[in-house]
Amino acid sequence: MRIIRAKDYKDMSRKAANIISAQVILKPDSVLGLATGSSPIGTYEQLVKWYEKGDLDFADVTTVNLDEYYGMKPENDQSYHYFMHDHFFDHVNIDPSRINLPNGMEPDEKKECARYDAVLRSVGDVDIQLLGIGRNGHIGFNEFFSKGTHCVDLTESTIEANKRFFASEDEVPRRAYSMGIHTIMTAKKVLVVASGEDKAWAIRESCFGPVTPKVPGSILQLHNDAIVIADEAALSLCGDFL
Ligand code: F6R
Repeated sequence: MRIIRAKDYKDMSRKAANIISAQVILKPDSVLGLATGSSPIGTYEQLVKWYEKGDLDFADVTTVNLDEYYGMKPENDQSYHYFMHDHFFDHVNIDPSRINLPNGMEPDEKKECARYDAVLRSVGDVDIQLLGIGRNGHIGFNEFFSKGTHCVDLTESTIEANKRFFASEDEVPRRAYSMGIHTIMTAKKVLVVASGEDKAWAIRESCFGPVTPKVPGSILQLHNDAIVIADEAALSLCGDFL
């Protein structure tokens, strides 16, 4: 696991965007695994800027997203479909037929998980998987170790963390479809972005604690090309280890 120290959120975002850019330049038909949430927004903004300058071309890129809320319509502005279009897809020349996310509107969990796993198999290996990390150490919406796509009951701590995006806690979805840990681990490269003091515990435990399903991000210690870009605040509990 390689840990890259960033000064702050902006620096973290530029560093992550640089790594994704290099991937797309070296392999224009890359498969990018993408995440939502606050952590990668700056990375997407930077990639969009470089695209607008003519430095990047996403025409041949395929994307697979980590997760989507169960029962959430794609046009709902809290959905991860909406998020991805708003922050990234609508601003670059990505082919809409190469964009893949779980379908939150499919009520049949078994069917949707099987469909999304088939999509993941069909696109081939993910070249680089971008990840945020939950305060409790979750990656994707994996609150434990899991294999393939599954429908997960979000923990209280995740519901609490996500309520900032909703008008009230009652509106926060309780369930989500998520790519499995095993699938995440098959990505050729994994890139975690973490910023802020509220991620410090998750970063310390994921990078230096025991590998345990209680901290799903800790599994990344076993990945042979995992990069963590964290700012000073997110690294603030790692002092003894760095
Ligand atoms: C999002 C995802 C989640 C988030 C995590 C951190 O697609 O899979 O694991 O990355 O909850 O969220 P933020 O970045 O909002 O702190």
